[in-house]
Amino acid sequence: MSKKKLMIHDFQRLKREGEKIAWLTSYDYPTARFAEEAGLDMILVGDSLGMCVYGYESTVPVTMDQCIVHCQAVRRGAPNTFVLGDMPFMSYQKSDEEAVANAGRFLKESSVDAIKLEGGRRVMSRIKAILDAGVVVCGHIGLTPQSSGQLGGHKAQGRTAESARALIEDALAVQEAGAQLLLLEAVPPEVAGFITHRLAIPVLSIGAGPHCDGQLLIVSDMIGQFQAFTPKFVKKYADVAGVVTQAMREYVQEVKTGAFPRDEHCYHMLEGEEAKFRELIKKY
Ligand code: KIV
Repeated sequence: MSKKKLMIHDFQRLKREGEKIAWLTSYDYPTARFAEEAGLDMILVGDSLGMCVYGYESTVPVTMDQCIVHCQAVRRGAPNTFVLGDMPFMSYQKSDEEAVANAGRFLKESSVDAIKLEGGRRVMSRIKAILDAGVVVCGHIGLTPQSSGQLGGHKAQGRTAESARALIEDALAVQEAGAQLLLLEAVPPEVAGFITHRLAIPVLSIGAGPHCDGQLLIVSDMIGQFQAFTPKFVKKYADVAGVVTQAMREYVQEVKTGAFPRDEHCYHMLEGEEAKFRELIKKY
């Protein structure tokens, strides 16, 4: 039986009822299928695909075209799950018009349910413009990887009272601009808890502690596939890198020793054909 797809009003209801929202990233068809089968409420096709799929050092080189292709694959794998496309660097920074055009591409070309963009007060006009075009928007504040250079690296945000105040102002601005979801990244639980309580819209956490309305993790981190670095907030639920590497080692070994393939992996000739074949190859 296919699962009932949750929509934006369902997330508002879950917040009111105190049920936590479970959210993961996915970048490809098979992982999206697993996510839907496992009962994820939402999937983010994050620009983290730059690191997790393409091996870039940051999210900065990721393009709209790449994001669209991955959103299409995820949509095919998870037709009954709320999918968000992540606006990559320079897809919304230049102007409201360009932001609307790119947000529109996500919907038209890959049928996502919402888009996410980074920034607080400084992206208010972008959020309003995208919303006016009829697109559901998720804000993203705290550690915003696209501007990590300005933040002094991949560092937790809001750890002083003054920087926590700036985060609260950003959170209020995102809500006021009309965003219907907000993601807090790498923020102390004390601050995230206050923001979650203060805002009417669902507030999700990636490294912002347990008091938010739901949690997001990068799938490649939580299944133990991405190995370059692991943020403090990640819990590993599996060791995919270990399992896959071990499987490949065994394969190498079996190919070298001839243990693979065995008879059950072969397509034999049809009955009676082998005798004809033996006769036929005598000429050669
Ligand atoms: O791209 C992504 O996966 C993200 C998360 C880090 C929140 O934006």
